[in-house]
Amino acid sequence: MPSLRAIQAAITTLAVDAIVNAANSSLLGGGGVDGAIHRAAGPELLAECRALGGCPTGEAKITRGHRLPAQWVIHTVGPVWHGGEQGEPALLASCYRRSVEEAVRVGARSIAFPAISTGVYGYPKGPAAQVAVAAVRAALATHEGTIDEVVFCCFSEDDWRTVQAALERG
Ligand code: APR
Repeated sequence: MPSLRAIQAAITTLAVDAIVNAANSSLLGGGGVDGAIHRAAGPELLAECRALGGCPTGEAKITRGHRLPAQWVIHTVGPVWHGGEQGEPALLASCYRRSVEEAVRVGARSIAFPAISTGVYGYPKGPAAQVAVAAVRAALATHEGTIDEVVFCCFSEDDWRTVQAALERG
């Protein structure tokens, strides 16, 4: 059974096989975790992203990690929060599911997620954590024997408590 845990850290420091980037549909960088990942990975990451031609919301595309400790970066585009009645939960779940699928496709055994959409995109942290944990657990159940470790990488202690509570809720 894969291990799922929440930690408080900067995702760019994690020596996991793949880290997930909360990107925008251009895949050409931005602020928040997107900016941190591009700064740490170096300009070669942006060059590789340019060739991907963008990414729709809820989808995920994979690149190398370049100067990051992680071998891969999985770029996914979360939904902007508009109150929860415009398909946001399903789109957020899709980000997590498609990221797991991309990790499985390249043989990554460990993957770290930021709290997708909970920053600039305004998704409430509690509901987002519940969607994230449920979606990852469902995706792992359909890809048994592939990923050994999933890390929910929280940037603040408060975010860590929120995700930890979602993990404990089962
Ligand atoms: N490591 C881990 N988590 C981080 C880091 C970091 N270095 N920096 C920020 N975060 C956390 C935020 O605290 C938040 O919990 O990542 C989560 C996602 O927030 P954002 O990065 O703002 O991403 P999101 O809400 O999905 O908005 C995406 O913001 O940066 C732009 O280009 C990006 O347009 C896109 C939008």
